Amino acid sequence: MKISETQRKEWRIRVDYTNMTDKYLGEKGISSKTIEDRKSLAKAAHAYVSKNRGKDELFMGWTELPYNQTEIVEDILATAKDIRKKFDYFVVLGIGGSALGPIMAFNALCHLHYNDLPSKKRKGPKFYVEDNVDPVRMKELLDVIDIKKTYFNVISKSGATSETMAQYLIVSDLLKQAGENVKDHLVFTTDAQRGNLVKISKELGGVKSFVLGDGVGGRFSELSPVGLLPAAVLGIDIKLLLKGAAYMDKLCSRPDLKKNPALIAALLQYIAMQDGKNIGVLMPYSDNLKYVSDWYAQLWAESLGKNVTLSGEKCNVGQTPVKALGVTDQHSQVQLYTEGPYDKVVTFLSVRSYGEKTPIPHGCENIPDVSFLGGHTMEELIQAENKATAFALTKAGRLNYTVELPVVNAFTLGELLYFFELQTAYAGAMLNIDTFNQPGVEAGKKATFALLGKPGYESQKAELDGAAPDEKYIV
Ligand code: PA5
Repeated sequence: MKISETQRKEWRIRVDYTNMTDKYLGEKGISSKTIEDRKSLAKAAHAYVSKNRGKDELFMGWTELPYNQTEIVEDILATAKDIRKKFDYFVVLGIGGSALGPIMAFNALCHLHYNDLPSKKRKGPKFYVEDNVDPVRMKELLDVIDIKKTYFNVISKSGATSETMAQYLIVSDLLKQAGENVKDHLVFTTDAQRGNLVKISKELGGVKSFVLGDGVGGRFSELSPVGLLPAAVLGIDIKLLLKGAAYMDKLCSRPDLKKNPALIAALLQYIAMQDGKNIGVLMPYSDNLKYVSDWYAQLWAESLGKNVTLSGEKCNVGQTPVKALGVTDQHSQVQLYTEGPYDKVVTFLSVRSYGEKTPIPHGCENIPDVSFLGGHTMEELIQAENKATAFALTKAGRLNYTVELPVVNAFTLGELLYFFELQTAYAGAMLNIDTFNQPGVEAGKKATFALLGKPGYESQKAELDGAAPDEKYIV
């Protein structure tokens, strides 16, 4: 699909940070002087990201994904077409960065009850992402799929993640038991050379595989085959997704804070963090965008939660992401946001046009408390509640800003996720940390290996056994 410049502008997402400023929040807000004082920090962060973009050794290969996948995209589209023709179920086996992107895109761009629709109304097979090893969930997945009609996308950069590999062992065994040729039901998304999925592919005589490039970490991988293959199977326009990301990249190529939405958002978050705002709430006012919060939570938490700076000094930085959904969580968490500690920044994701208005009919004319709703639309109601919540938070001196999507489609989702990726990269540069590693996650993975008896982890097993709970502290 070709998109004109006018269309691009119409679909441009906007960041409104009015409610972060002292103009609206008084002394609780961020002053122009504070922003001015930190301008050089923002400039340096922008320069760092621009200078290092595309560098695999720094895990910044993700910046180039909107541009360098022409052949891969064609391969993905052909593979997806074939899968749609032959299979009734498509199951992603993966976790963390190998699952949250596909879940987000599915939820954002497909019917909210996609799997319940009759096949004629779906663009692809039924879709499941299994990102946990809860035994009940695994068993119950098997209750709703027909293994002979299921295609599994095993996504793991390392091929060594216990959760994903346990799932792989279960499904490959079931496929064998069902008399199927296992490799006909599999596509791998993994590292080019290293990793166990490469070995497994060889053993099975060559499984169709897509590569997750060296310079692309899990949480920055949604625009790689990790996200693009599941999206294409679902009939999502992946070229448009990439075009949206490229557009955001272009908007953010400018070092000027007033023109670069990801840079100003990162700087404001940085200033807030330095001022003790340790919690970042992401609150989309859209069910389609609900799982953007889950994806973003990993991106923001794993990238910024670090205990050492790039210069080797000890630090404990990061901001705890909290997931909320507008309007649902107005009736759950907003009381805390409005009156609790001044420790949060709330980011709203707003939608200008939902594509559905859903009129509210007149009725209950003798009950003014109810009848005032008649004649409005659900779209008006959700937008009014979004505005009202931002207003109430602002009145209460709470930092908040809004990222507005004109519509939710593949282009704007591409813009949004590239915006958050850049915001994270800029914020990490401002904090002077390694944004792209995750030693804390690796530690947990290794301890799991030790507990389950993986060779090479014997000493850690002994240490873990030695740290068994003490009865005297168990009530
Ligand atoms: O962001 C990350 O790097 C992690 O969340 C990984 O994606 C996650 O741990 C899964 O790893 P792998 O893809 O190697 O199975």
